[in-house]
Amino acid sequence: MDQNPQPTIRATNCETPALDRRAMLSAVAAACAGALVPSHALAATRNMEGLKTKAAARGIVYGAEITVPVLANPSLAKAIAREAAIITPGVEMKWGATEKLRGKADYSDAETLARFAGENRLALRGHAALWYRNIPVWARPLLDGPRGKDILLKRTSDVIGHFRGRVAEWDVVNEAIDPRDGNPTGLRKWPPFAKGDPGYIAEAFHAAKDADPKALLYYNDYGFVYDNPRAADRRKTAIALIENLMNRGAPINGFGVQTHLKVGSVFSPKIFGDFLRIIADYKLRIGITELDVNDSLLPADIAIRDKAVAEHAGRVLGVALAVPAVKSVITWGLTDSFTWLNSKSVRQNNVDARPLPLDRHLARKPLWYAIADAFDNAPHR
Ligand code: G3I
Repeated sequence: MDQNPQPTIRATNCETPALDRRAMLSAVAAACAGALVPSHALAATRNMEGLKTKAAARGIVYGAEITVPVLANPSLAKAIAREAAIITPGVEMKWGATEKLRGKADYSDAETLARFAGENRLALRGHAALWYRNIPVWARPLLDGPRGKDILLKRTSDVIGHFRGRVAEWDVVNEAIDPRDGNPTGLRKWPPFAKGDPGYIAEAFHAAKDADPKALLYYNDYGFVYDNPRAADRRKTAIALIENLMNRGAPINGFGVQTHLKVGSVFSPKIFGDFLRIIADYKLRIGITELDVNDSLLPADIAIRDKAVAEHAGRVLGVALAVPAVKSVITWGLTDSFTWLNSKSVRQNNVDARPLPLDRHLARKPLWYAIADAFDNAPHR
């Protein structure tokens, strides 16, 4: 019995059918278009098809992370609307962005992105209600005190409640796992939860459910993809956490695998595929929630890098999309001109990173085609 029956995915300002019906509608529409249009024109139409159309034909949702500065570029805003069926704010819904002053919530930037989603009939993905980073300055000293948990649960209710009925799915808790902190549960030492008791995570999901009963609620984290001891530890911790949350009756619908890839990392299709299938066995949807590809270990030559990035991402996505529970793929950005991997604090060399499907001129790169092929070759959901 599915513990949490899946609600429908909703685009902002309108009810849309659940993913499977939506994908079926898109596939039928595409087929009908084919019947009415001559082949050369159809080829041109297909070439303009965004990744969302290819994904929807297999019952998958494709989307992208965006930030407000992205919308200042009309061509980029148009590309987002063409390629993505769902968008997620990279920063604007985070606590540090929405409540700089205690009790004075400011959702204006997040509302700008929500408006863009509504105007373009895109669904909205909330990110992130609770995250140990991006904490407003006023809150930091309080989290370790007696009211810390209440303050965090209020934050969860506030932000999810503000967007009630307008967000299809939420990252309720983001990146709570860090076995290096030495907790027996493998959870991060994050005040006031320094002992790593997963109880607060279950409470956060209940608060989220109360704040928006129809949104799909995800736990989201990174570091599960590769074949190395640290990733193995994180996968084991994640499975134990999901088991714990399910036993507590936490209203969790989905598991987000961020999938920040790095060319040169050791990848085992069996290890990653087995992990996804174990998570799926908990009757959870799985999202690839922050896909991008770090090419910093590659030569500077663009053709070499783009080819290697595409091949690497294609292999990982092929394994992920072979698991029917994987319902969505979101790239963490759409174009190389807006990627966290080029921010000063992150970049690892003096070569501009090329981690995303479109280049700085919005031209489709080999990675775009690798993602498109992965959708084309995925089993229908
Ligand atoms: O907007 C200000 C700008 O006005 C200022 O001049 C500039 C220099 O300080 O900072 C800009 O804000 C930055 C913001 O990104 C805008 O893009 C923040 O400093 C910077 O901390 C923030 O970084 C974001 C980071 O999360 C922390 O919130 C990245 O863009 C975002 O891509 C990254 O995303 C995270 C996910 O939430 C969780 N998974 C990992 C992923 C990558 O770190």
